[in-house]
Amino acid sequence: MDLHDYEDVAENYDLYLDAMYRSEDSHAGFREFYLDFAREHGQGGVIDIACGTGAVLLYLAEHGIMADGTDLSEAMCRVADEKARRMGFALRIFPADMTEFSSGRKYSCAIIARSGFMHLPTPELQRAALLNIRENLTDGGMLTFNTFDPHPFFQAQQMNTKDTDYTLRLEYTNRQGRRERIYNAISYDPYTQIMSGNWKFETLDESGNVIGERVRPLKMRQTYREEMKYLLELTGYEIVHVYGGYHRESGDGSAKNVIWCVRKK
Ligand SMILES: C[S@@+](CC[C@H](N)C(=O)[O-])C[C@H]1O[C@@H](n2cnc3c(N)ncnc32)[C@H](O)[C@@H]1O
Repeated sequence: MDLHDYEDVAENYDLYLDAMYRSEDSHAGFREFYLDFAREHGQGGVIDIACGTGAVLLYLAEHGIMADGTDLSEAMCRVADEKARRMGFALRIFPADMTEFSSGRKYSCAIIARSGFMHLPTPELQRAALLNIRENLTDGGMLTFNTFDPHPFFQAQQMNTKDTDYTLRLEYTNRQGRRERIYNAISYDPYTQIMSGNWKFETLDESGNVIGERVRPLKMRQTYREEMKYLLELTGYEIVHVYGGYHRESGDGSAKNVIWCVRKK
C-alpha cells in the first residue's frame, strides 16, 4: 500500500497539502507551468499521469483544456472525479499504474506533476513507466516530470534515522472538522536510493488530547541526473529542457527540483 491508497489520505489530501505548502513550497508555480506546457504541446490531447486529486487536471479544465487523468490510487481518482463533477467537467479519470496503463488513444502531451515519478521505487519500474508512457504518446509527443536532486546532507541524516523517528510536519483541520497533527519519519537506503517513510496522523479533541492515530507508509526513490539522462536515452526520449524550477529557472548547478521536458524519439 502507498500513502495515497488510503481513503482518509485521499479525502484530506487537498486540505493538508495546502497547509504544508503554505510553509514549504517546493512546487511554487507548478499549475501555471503545466498549463503553459499543455498549451504548447497538447493539441493532440493531454494526459495527467498520477493526477492525484486533480490539482493540475482541474486547473487545465478551468482553462479550457480537457485532459484525461489517471492515478494508481482509486481513492485519489474518486476524489478527483467528484471535484470535476462539482465543477461541471466531464473528464475521463481512471485508476491505473503508470507502468502499464493503456488508454485506448494516444496523446501529444503527458504530464506527471509534483513528484509523481519519484513514487516509482525501482529503476525497473521507472523504465517500465517511461516505456509505457512512450507507447501512449503520439510521434514527437512531449512528457514532463520532475525529480529532486539527491542531497548528501539529507541523505546522511536519513541514513541515521528509522522510519519511526517522527518529526512534526504540520497541523491542519481534516474533512470532519477535527484538528490533526501530521508527523513523518523517513529513512534512506543508499544502496537502493529508496526513501522509506511513514506518515502519522494524530486526531485531536477540542482540548488538544490525542483521540486517534493512523500510520500510512510511503516509498520514494531518489534519482541522480546522470542516471535519468541514460534512462531517458534507453527508453527512447530526447531531452528538450531541464529546468531548475517551475519558473523555468536554469537547470544547471544546484537546482533542487529538476523539471524534465522530453520528447518521444
Ligand atoms: C505526490 S502525489 C501528486 C499528485 C498530483 N499529481 C498533484 O500534483 O497533486 C503522487 C501521486 O502518484 C500516485 N502514484 C504513485 N505510484 C503510481 C503509479 N505507479 N502509477 C500511477 N500513479 C501513481 C499516487 O497515488 C499519488 O496520487
